[in-house]
Amino acid sequence: MVERNGRGRDHPVLTGAPRSPPSAFVEQANVTDPEIYESFAENWPECWDRAAELLSWDRSYETVLEDDDAPFYRWFTGGKLNAAENCVDRHLEAGRKNHAAIRWEGKRGEREVYTYRDLYVATNEVATALRELGVEEDDVVTIYLPMIPELPITMLACARIGAPHNVVFAGLSADALATRMDAADSEYLLTCDGYYRRGNAFNQKSKADNARLKLEHDVRTVVVDRLGEDLPHVLGDDEYDYHELRETFTGETVEPVSRDAEDMLFLMYTSGTTGEPKGVVHTTGGYLSHVAWTAHAVLDVKPDDTYWCAADIGWITGHSYIVYGPLALGTTTVMYEGTPDYPDRDRLWEIVDRNAVDVFYTAPTAIRAFMKWGEEYPNRHDLSSLRLLGSVGEPISPRPWNWYREHIGGGDVPVVDTWWQTETGAVTVSTLPAVDEMKPGAAGPGLPGIDVRVVDDAGEEVEPGESGYLTIARPWPGMARTLYDGDEQFRSEYWDRFSDPDADDWRYFSGDAARIDEDGYLTVLGRVDDVINVSGRRLSTMEIESAITDVPGVAETAVVGRSSEPGGTEIYAYVSTEGGYDDENAVREAIVDSIETAIGPFARPTRILFTPELPKTRSGKIMRRLLENISNGEDLGDTSALRNPEIVGEIQAEILED
Ligand code: WT7
Repeated sequence: MVERNGRGRDHPVLTGAPRSPPSAFVEQANVTDPEIYESFAENWPECWDRAAELLSWDRSYETVLEDDDAPFYRWFTGGKLNAAENCVDRHLEAGRKNHAAIRWEGKRGEREVYTYRDLYVATNEVATALRELGVEEDDVVTIYLPMIPELPITMLACARIGAPHNVVFAGLSADALATRMDAADSEYLLTCDGYYRRGNAFNQKSKADNARLKLEHDVRTVVVDRLGEDLPHVLGDDEYDYHELRETFTGETVEPVSRDAEDMLFLMYTSGTTGEPKGVVHTTGGYLSHVAWTAHAVLDVKPDDTYWCAADIGWITGHSYIVYGPLALGTTTVMYEGTPDYPDRDRLWEIVDRNAVDVFYTAPTAIRAFMKWGEEYPNRHDLSSLRLLGSVGEPISPRPWNWYREHIGGGDVPVVDTWWQTETGAVTVSTLPAVDEMKPGAAGPGLPGIDVRVVDDAGEEVEPGESGYLTIARPWPGMARTLYDGDEQFRSEYWDRFSDPDADDWRYFSGDAARIDEDGYLTVLGRVDDVINVSGRRLSTMEIESAITDVPGVAETAVVGRSSEPGGTEIYAYVSTEGGYDDENAVREAIVDSIETAIGPFARPTRILFTPELPKTRSGKIMRRLLENISNGEDLGDTSALRNPEIVGEIQAEILED
């Protein structure tokens, strides 16, 4: 049994009764051949031609996989392509220029439809403007925008000119933005004046301004005017108005830059086990092939579908399955700016109904909320257009899985539980909806060509029914190529633990624990490292801890994940103060402030507990695991070997107090 933290703790031991895909679904599905697993296994790595074939290449690749410099794999080498051309231009040529590419649903009920032609015009004008501002191929452009159409437009404009984008989630703080721009040496920023938050105008530009002040280099900034009169703003030096730029360059076009398959398409910072976020590098050919293939094979997306992934583009799910995957396939992708409960708790179902959405993809944290709100909300609408449902981001246990299928899917649609990560780029574990049985509570087997292994501490595969570490024994096209911060860190974070370089045996370690059953289906149990997953957002306990220790008066802290009902994770922070600081409330407020400044409001702990000391080993190491057990009301075993065993009872008593 491996230890795991936070999410997954209360995950059921049993999976639900298997279900077969409905025949009506199978008859129309993109991938139906049960032999696909075998054919991928026998024909590996050339099997991945199937993914690459979904794209248009300026020059065909010579080699599917180059593995002589493992773990720095290279996919589709020799090939050239442009991601924006694949997501936009080629659909015009295919005679679908007036087909809807993006259906945007704004927070205040606004609706906008961008056809592929509109997207072509917009991305070309923005690409021209970026060039004029000095952006060159391989310059990293940071994008700090909420869920407005300008977000995918600017991403695609960057892709068009071969400038890797670095999207920073709009809810992150000024400090977090500055850290990411600094780490990525990014001298260009695309942001907006603000956006609506709980009905009020929220100032995004002031966060961007503060971030710029922290940077040592100049930053050319483009500002989208989202709020107009609701939040007037003035542009300073080196700041440009998005709409004015578009006007200046109306009708201008830029030839898409032909990129090597292995050229960087984008950077995405994510939380790791250290205090610093990691810049995950994704490349053009492998990433785009993998996201297009999985949107096709797993989400069963078709060009004539209206497809909706209700995630934020500021994280990898939105990059892969709101923008690149669906647009590469030429489908209509819905983009929603708001929350699921405004103006009422049926908002999402109203959007599904009105747009006749075919495929819907969301996170368990949302599904659990829908379940809590009750079936009356979906029941207000006609959801019969839905053909397939997907889940991503956290484990989903059988109860919400069944509820989702029953009340959103009408009882007879396939539900895919897709396991993947920022680092895997695209889905790596899931059932193929027309091929495999579904088992509620288990994500499924590794996709064809993805060699998933659950191993013990020694790297040996565990028996069915047992849990271990989730590893992947062969490379795959969408995998991260390295970390922007350095190759060494890439090796040590993901490869060192289970690889044997002398034997040229490379194993990617995901940081997750999983259990595998006799059919090779994985039940993902959650992270085993210092990463916690809160409402589908990935946070590093170290990052939160470092924000807490920045507060004057704080001596030491430990941050852990605690399972909350039903099935979520919340943040508990244990804090000891320096002698002389007895105003706990003031310190508490300063801690919340510091976390919001360093990361963002969503990283705020549910509880901050003050304790005279943190439990420690004799050598002085803070026992985080023990604090996690305490937080979760679990059995602690023998704690007598601690340096300060008496503190454990005190903390337990405080936890039990409310
Ligand atoms: C972590 C990756 C992949 C997009 C969203 C999150 C957890 C993801 C599942 C799933 C159980 C899941 C893992 C993983 N996770 N999907 N279907 N079942 N856990 O991307 O922020 O990089 O987080 O999310 O713990 O390691 P991310």
